[in-house]
Amino acid sequence: MATKTKPGAFSRIVDVDSGSVSREIFVNEDIYRQEQEQIFAQAWLFVGHESQVTKPGDYFVSSMGEESVILCRDRQGEVHIFLNSCTHRGMKVCRYDEGNSPVFSCPYHGWSFATDGKLVGVPYFKDAYNEKLDKSKWGLPEVPQMYNYKGSIWGSWDKKAPPFLDYLGDMKMFLDLALDGRDGSEGGSEILGGVQKWTMPSNWKFAAENFAGDGYHNISHRSVDMVDIGPSGRGRRDGNEISTATRLNISFPELGHAAVVDMQPKDTAQVATYTNTLVVEEYFRGREAKRRESLGDRPNLIGMVGTVFPNMSYLARQPRSIAMWHPRGPDLTEAWRWFLIDKNTPDEVKEVLRHYYIRYSGPGGMTEQDDMENWNYAHNASKGAIARRTPYNYEMGIGISRKDSGLPGVVTERISEENQRGFYRRWAAMMDAKSWADLAPTGRSNRHKKNS
Ligand code: FES
Ligand SMILES: [Fe+2]
Repeated sequence: MATKTKPGAFSRIVDVDSGSVSREIFVNEDIYRQEQEQIFAQAWLFVGHESQVTKPGDYFVSSMGEESVILCRDRQGEVHIFLNSCTHRGMKVCRYDEGNSPVFSCPYHGWSFATDGKLVGVPYFKDAYNEKLDKSKWGLPEVPQMYNYKGSIWGSWDKKAPPFLDYLGDMKMFLDLALDGRDGSEGGSEILGGVQKWTMPSNWKFAAENFAGDGYHNISHRSVDMVDIGPSGRGRRDGNEISTATRLNISFPELGHAAVVDMQPKDTAQVATYTNTLVVEEYFRGREAKRRESLGDRPNLIGMVGTVFPNMSYLARQPRSIAMWHPRGPDLTEAWRWFLIDKNTPDEVKEVLRHYYIRYSGPGGMTEQDDMENWNYAHNASKGAIARRTPYNYEMGIGISRKDSGLPGVVTERISEENQRGFYRRWAAMMDAKSWADLAPTGRSNRHKKNS
């Protein structure tokens, strides 16, 4: 039975203060529909990477919430995001995953749209429309806010959404750990290979909250640890992660983002992470030495995982990658994973990474399969009338966060569900909000504009 919800109701069924979250938010069709309006039509969403659209006419078909969008570079070199739906009768104007084209021609009646979204071709324009159709009004709907952050391209359908950097807030320094090069160079990464795509019969929030920092589920990955899945045949915590580091959970409850990092003393001896071949080992030693040199006064942080609210997650350590958990109904998620690599990585290193990435992540990746198995069964076992009576428990670590680490956010040193509570606090706030004015941060700034 569908639960009827009233404004303000979400903060009651998501009781993060006491650590109790109703199962309805995962399985209820009405709540799912409201998420499309309240969250996915307003939030900033990751759409693709600039290295996927380097030349005029390059496009990548992506997704924002449930809806198909086209990320493309026009003839003038400007990047746009358009709704992938013809303004005549709604047909998908681009049915490929990616490519290069001077124009998107609708397969239904043949309207065609230029790479800047303008309607440029209408069959029988003279005979059928008497040349009266105002083509300038019928271009593809364009995402009004777009931002290129270190090569990662984000969009929001809401003109009133706060600027991207305000939306990201202090999560920036943790997302940087995924987007910067291994040598610490700003945004020094690009995409390796194609985007892996697959579906999982579970709600999108299972994956998003897990990558927000579920440090409690290592038991699920026991088998991959036993077979030493690591990049050079050791455990997952290869190389730099075997250290005197302190693991920290970082939560931004007013924004919904969360991350996990290891903070290492700066004088920690470097450990060879990749011992596959001499070339590979030297490459990573060199990158790591440069990264440490570039730190200056900044803390020595090794990025682990994180989620940028609502549905973009990343692995900052290897296999370094970005995941999007696209909602496809309350009971289905389409997962997409982009693999990141440093620009100008030598082929020998690329090959080692490619093998490690695919044996770890994606639909055939052993570690990702462990996670999906849990989400699939947890979701299905939560749908029944009896199951829905019992909320999920998020009490772990209530009251143990601390602020003295020198890092922004709510920081927890011990294992905790603080990050998940922060994620759901923001989820409830966005679901209940009537406008951005009801949400923190409310301040808008003009310090950055569309930047491609
Ligand atoms: S639906 Fe595209 S031209 Fe008719
Ligand atoms: Fe996992």
